[in-house]
Amino acid sequence: MTEAAKLSLGAKETELALRQGTIGPDVVDIASLYKNTGLFTYDPGFTSTASCESKITYIDGDEGVLLHRGYPIDQLAEQGNFLETCYLLLYGELPTRTEMSDFTYRVTRHTMVHEQMSRFYTGFRRDAHPMAVMVGSVGALSAFYHDSTDITDPHQRMVASIRMIAKTPTLAAMAYKYHIGQPFVYPRNDLSYAENFLHMCFAVPCEPYQINPVLARAMDRIFTLHADHEQNASTSTVRLAGSSGANPFACIAAGIACLWGPAHGGANEAALNMLAEIGTKDRIPEFIARAKDKNDPFRLMGFGHRVYKNYDPRAKIMQQTCHEVLTELGIKDDPLLEVAMELEQIALHDPYFVEKKLYPNVDFYSGITLKALGFPTTMFTVLFAVARTVGWIAQWKEMIEDPHQRIGRPRQLYTGAAQREYASLDSRG
Ligand code: CMC
Repeated sequence: MTEAAKLSLGAKETELALRQGTIGPDVVDIASLYKNTGLFTYDPGFTSTASCESKITYIDGDEGVLLHRGYPIDQLAEQGNFLETCYLLLYGELPTRTEMSDFTYRVTRHTMVHEQMSRFYTGFRRDAHPMAVMVGSVGALSAFYHDSTDITDPHQRMVASIRMIAKTPTLAAMAYKYHIGQPFVYPRNDLSYAENFLHMCFAVPCEPYQINPVLARAMDRIFTLHADHEQNASTSTVRLAGSSGANPFACIAAGIACLWGPAHGGANEAALNMLAEIGTKDRIPEFIARAKDKNDPFRLMGFGHRVYKNYDPRAKIMQQTCHEVLTELGIKDDPLLEVAMELEQIALHDPYFVEKKLYPNVDFYSGITLKALGFPTTMFTVLFAVARTVGWIAQWKEMIEDPHQRIGRPRQLYTGAAQREYASLDSRG
């Protein structure tokens, strides 16, 4: 017999079905609650609400576990690569050798963007934040690729997905080049995904650019570690935007806008700015005290997570990658890294952080690594967006292909004025 949860309202009792996932907590199905009782549920920030059913990513925040289609993130990041993870997220299984080469071919054939996109870029101010440029340019793809915006056609959905995975690095590199006043560098399809991205960002027409395999591997890992993270704010934004039937390019642009915030994707940029502000190890106690002070809005950027109440599994790999990059580049006495390491140790042992389970998150180390790779802080969230595009697209596709999919329309607890009569301006004095 299927178990049910019982909700008592005075003398009346309502049964709510319990649903079981493969792993993770059961959920109470409240879809019929309003119909049966006239009640809504209230859950600001969705801390207890499953907004959808999904087969893509699983997180156990208490245990520090992150699985994509069942595979642990550390295995994917250390033994696989980003494009393989993209395939896994989109199709549900790891590719065979033939499937992998076919998928790589399809992605690389879509790396160029319509030539007119470059004129679109020149409309922006040079000092525009590259995330502002990304929101605009990714949204603008829907004006260039009409043949992949019919969301009812599975073929067009897949073409749009491949296009987005292939083109966001190109758009991101263009945003960077435009920002620093250098010419755009066309993609090179003989390079791997991460190598091509580094090439588009750092090559210049006047001299050859040598790709460092250690740095390319680190870039690939950063992409893999950020590929998907179940129903976080930007992914939920993409799903909500897509639930109305909006085209996929517009939905991803909405996700990028959401990711920009410092509580979400903007945290790696904010973490590095914070480390620079702290400057030296002796100033750490002052900042720790500010983070604990209830009357001070300051928070330690790169610490804490809505879901992980244990060490973020991505942070462990990112810490190791960070060290590999710094060693390769011969950066030994980086003051920011010294502050970061000391801060990590203090926060891991300070009762405030221990009791609230505020561990360093992936953004804490990715910021330092990206700085060492040569990216300015304004590009950090852009790189997160490049990596997360596949997660957004996989979640968007899953939603569109779900036969039970309906437009997302949350309810509210209204606490404003009750109905009242309009009074003319004259009578209001
Ligand atoms: N520094 C100091 N105190 C903190 C921090 C922090 N970074 N994070 C949470 N707290 C405290 C908070 O003040 C609260 O204290 P109290 O219970 O006394 O009121 C308690 O911990 C719980 O915090 P919360 O705001 O209820 O937790 P949340 O789940 O709503 O917020 C968070 C999660 C990530 C927004 C938050 O930890 C934060 O702002 N961290 C800094 C920004 C950051 O690093 N964000 C990146 C998240 S990982 C990347 C991603 O997935 O997008």
